[in-house]
Amino acid sequence: MKIRYGVIGVGGHGRNRHLIPLTKLSEVEIVAVSDINKQRCEEVASQFKVKCYQDYMEMLDKEGLDAVSIVTPTGLHSKIAIDVLNKGVNVLVDKPLGANLEEVINVVKAAKRRGSKLMIGYWSRFSPALQFGKEIMENGLLGEPYIAYGYLVRRRGIPGIPTFIDKSLSGGRGALLDIGCYVLDNLLTLLRFRKPLSIMGKVYTKFGNREDEVKFNWGNWNAKEFSLDDYAVGYVRLEDEISLILEVGWAANVSHNEEKGYIRVLGDRGGLEGVGNEAILDISFHGRTKNFLIDTKPVLKKVDMALEMIKAFVKSIIEDTNPPISGEESIILHSIIDGIYKSSEENKEVKITLPDLL
Ligand SMILES: NC(=O)c1ccc[n+]([C@@H]2O[C@H](COP(=O)([O-])OP(=O)(O)OC[C@H]3O[C@@H](n4cnc5c(N)ncnc54)[C@H](O)[C@@H]3O)[C@@H](O)[C@H]2O)c1
Repeated sequence: MKIRYGVIGVGGHGRNRHLIPLTKLSEVEIVAVSDINKQRCEEVASQFKVKCYQDYMEMLDKEGLDAVSIVTPTGLHSKIAIDVLNKGVNVLVDKPLGANLEEVINVVKAAKRRGSKLMIGYWSRFSPALQFGKEIMENGLLGEPYIAYGYLVRRRGIPGIPTFIDKSLSGGRGALLDIGCYVLDNLLTLLRFRKPLSIMGKVYTKFGNREDEVKFNWGNWNAKEFSLDDYAVGYVRLEDEISLILEVGWAANVSHNEEKGYIRVLGDRGGLEGVGNEAILDISFHGRTKNFLIDTKPVLKKVDMALEMIKAFVKSIIEDTNPPISGEESIILHSIIDGIYKSSEENKEVKITLPDLL
């Protein structure tokens, strides 16, 4: 029997990173899509030869779905995810799981209550380069990690469409939530989601609120109404004496024209350096033998990361196993994001207390 699948939110990402990969899986039957934008919903439904519902609750009530992807704007993720989970349907929520820690905790609780599967759509997790880094660390080649640094900055890439900059849709947050979550997910994956103890951070609005900047970025918006962070920096003390530092921005006066992602994890036996964008695409390991310093680069396969993400979710349903990207991980990740916003607002270091759920 095939998995009956629905997709809620079929804009750019819903189509490209969910629906298209889903068509490649023989074990899945895409049954319906839902989008409040009637025209878009009908167009996509006809393209994929499925039903269209403007109201996702109606889709859930009528279609007897086994699984759903949620690819709406971030500010709606947690509410829709809880509605879906309460119907006993398995859910893949695109990144980030919610706008803030409280929302994330509520989704994780709903999943636990219903026993349905919850996976978060960090397609970047399926990067072979990141998997290589994980293997290096699991094999002890890095020794004890003590520094983790992550950078993800665009020269001019404020995503000027309502999904990302209308506060009710974006969840009231900017670059730190939207792309900072990738940097944290990449680093925390390598660090086995060690818990944060305290955080110092600062968020800035330096470009999005300037009329003369709009034309350099993506889309169009009213600069007078823009008040989201377009740059953020954080210093996080993790358990085991690890320092994690991150810097993310939708716009900055940097030399690289394309979005640039970079991570570095230093240990007492070796170090990892990764480059890419939201996903780490290339990675190297730096260590030593008895008499030589060595640099090692893996030979990496090219993979369709979005397809791998969808496959992993579907596999977890078929085999009734835990999905590889959990809600509990998002609790740790969002406690850091919330901590940076809080520290910035209060101009001081903030202590982190994680919920008992973990
Ligand atoms: N993983 C990634 O690399 C990546 C990249 C881009 C976007 N995203 C995430 O995907 C999500 C969507 O981004 P996008 O670029 O596709 O945006 P988008 O604006 O192109 O699409 C969002 C769609 O959701 C629909 N929608 C809004 N409210 C809805 C509701 N209540 N019910 C059903 N549909 C509704 C909108 O009409 C729109 O068609 C965001 O959370 C974003 O963070 C992830």
